[in-house]
Amino acid sequence: AAMPDQETRFRDSVDAIGSTPTGPRRPAEPARIADAFANTPDSDPALAEHREWAARAVAEPMPELTSRHLDTVADVEEVVATGRAAQAGWAARPAAERAALLRDAARELDSRRQTLVSVMAAEGGKTIVESDPEISEAVDFARYYADRALELEDGPMTDGASFTPFALTLITPPWNFPVAIPIGGVLASLAAGSAVIIKPAPQTPACVEEAVAALHAAGVPADVLQVVRAPEDEVGQRLVSHEDVEAVVLTGGSETARLFAGWRAGREEGARVLGETSGKNALVITPSADIDLAVADLVSSAFGHAGQKCSAASLGILVGSVADSPRLRRQLVDAASSVTVGWPSDLGTRMGPVIEPPSGKLLRALTTLEPGESWLVEPRQLDDTGRLWSPGVKEGVAPGSFFHLTEVFGPVLGLIRADSLEEAIELQNATDFGLTGGLHSLDESEIQQWTDAVEVGNGYVNRHITGAIVQRQSFGGWKSSSIGPGAKAGGPNYVAQLGTWSADGLPT
Ligand code: SER
Repeated sequence: AAMPDQETRFRDSVDAIGSTPTGPRRPAEPARIADAFANTPDSDPALAEHREWAARAVAEPMPELTSRHLDTVADVEEVVATGRAAQAGWAARPAAERAALLRDAARELDSRRQTLVSVMAAEGGKTIVESDPEISEAVDFARYYADRALELEDGPMTDGASFTPFALTLITPPWNFPVAIPIGGVLASLAAGSAVIIKPAPQTPACVEEAVAALHAAGVPADVLQVVRAPEDEVGQRLVSHEDVEAVVLTGGSETARLFAGWRAGREEGARVLGETSGKNALVITPSADIDLAVADLVSSAFGHAGQKCSAASLGILVGSVADSPRLRRQLVDAASSVTVGWPSDLGTRMGPVIEPPSGKLLRALTTLEPGESWLVEPRQLDDTGRLWSPGVKEGVAPGSFFHLTEVFGPVLGLIRADSLEEAIELQNATDFGLTGGLHSLDESEIQQWTDAVEVGNGYVNRHITGAIVQRQSFGGWKSSSIGPGAKAGGPNYVAQLGTWSADGLPT
C-alpha cells in the first residue's frame, strides 16, 4: 500500500513556513469573538453584540452526557460490529453526496457555535477567545475534507490508482482542543468513506457529544458515526487493539502513542496508529528581530490555553545580544505578569485553568529550579482548586537539562541563550520532538539558514507558533511528534492516508 511518505511530509512542512500564510483561502469563519475583547472602544455596537453573545454562552447550562459507556468487552464487540456493518452503505454513496453532507455538517457546527463554546468553557476550561476560533477550525475541516472526498473519487490523486478506505477507524482525541481535533479526525474518516467510532478524552466527553450531534443533525447516520466512552482498562484496550478497527487516529502524548502501537503491533500492515503527538517547541529570537513583535508572539504562544497545546512555545532561545537585552526582559516581565488569569466564565479572562492540579513534570517545572535557572517571573498558585496558576518564566535553562528536553504542557516558559543562530538551531533540534518552531528575525539570510535546518513539521517565521490554519498551514510533526504515515491534519494527504492504495497508487 502506498502511503504518504517522509518526502511528502517534508513537502507539506516547507509549504507551512512563511511569515505571511500563502494558502489560497482565508479561514472559513473569522474568529469574531476575539475582536470583541481586544483594546477597542466599548461604543462599537458590533463588539457589544459579541460581548453579549459571549455572556450568553458562558451562562448556558452544561448538557447531560448521553453517549454510550462501554462497560464490557462484549459492548466493544457490539459497537465494532455496528460500525463495520454500516460502512459499506456509507462508502457506496457517491463522493458528491458525502461531500455535500460534510458541508451541511459545517453549517450545523457553525449554527451551534454558542453551545459548543459554552461546553468548551465549562468542561474544558477553555477561554471564549480560544474556543470561538476552534469552532471555526472545525468548520474549516468539514469544508476542506469535503473537497478531498471529491478528489479521492475522481481527481488527479486517483489517476490510474484505486483507493479503498479503511472500513472502521477509531478516533482518540485529546482534551485540549476538545472540538476541532476530534471532529477533524471524524470528518476526514467520513470523507474517506470509513465508518467511525470516537472515544472522547475522559475530561471532555460533552464537547465531543455536542459536536457529533451537529454531524448527526446534518445527516451522518448514527451507526456510521458512534461516540463511546470507554474506561482505560481491558475494555479500552480491546477497543484500541481490535482487529476490525483498521486504523486508530490518535492525537495525544507520545507515551500513549507508544502504548497503542504496542497493542496493535502484531497486525499485518504494521501498527496502524497514526497521528500527532507531543512537542517541545521553541521560538528563536535573533538580534535582528523586531523585539516588540517577538515578545508578543512568544507570550501568546507560551501561555495561550495556559500552555496546554502540543504546539505551544515552551522555550525562547535568545541569540547573542538578545539574551542580555534589558528591553526584551522588561517587556517579557510586563507581558507575562499582566496576563489576566481566571475561569472562562469571567469574560475578562485571558488565561484559564490547567485541566487538573499539576503533578509530575508540570509540577516540577512550576515549582522547581534546576541548576543554573532562576525565575524571571515566578509562577503562583492562585486558588485552592490548584488549577489556576499565573504564568512563569524561567531563565538560564541549561542545554540538555530537564526543562530543555521535556514537554511539560502548562504555563511555564524557559529561556535559553545561544551565541549564534547556528547554536540556537542545534538547541531547537536537540529534543526528541519536531512539532512546531518559530524564528523571529528580519534578516533574509537568517530566515533561509533557519528554514533549511530546523526539524519541525510546522515552522513559522515572524509569527506566533500556535493556531495552524486548515489548508494554509497543515499541521503535524516529525520525529517523536508523529506516529504513522505522517500526513498532516488539514493538509492535502490527510484523507488519502485513511485507506489502502493499489500498488501504483502513490498520491502525487
Ligand atoms: N492545531 C493546533 C495549533 O496549531 C494544535 O493542535 O496550535
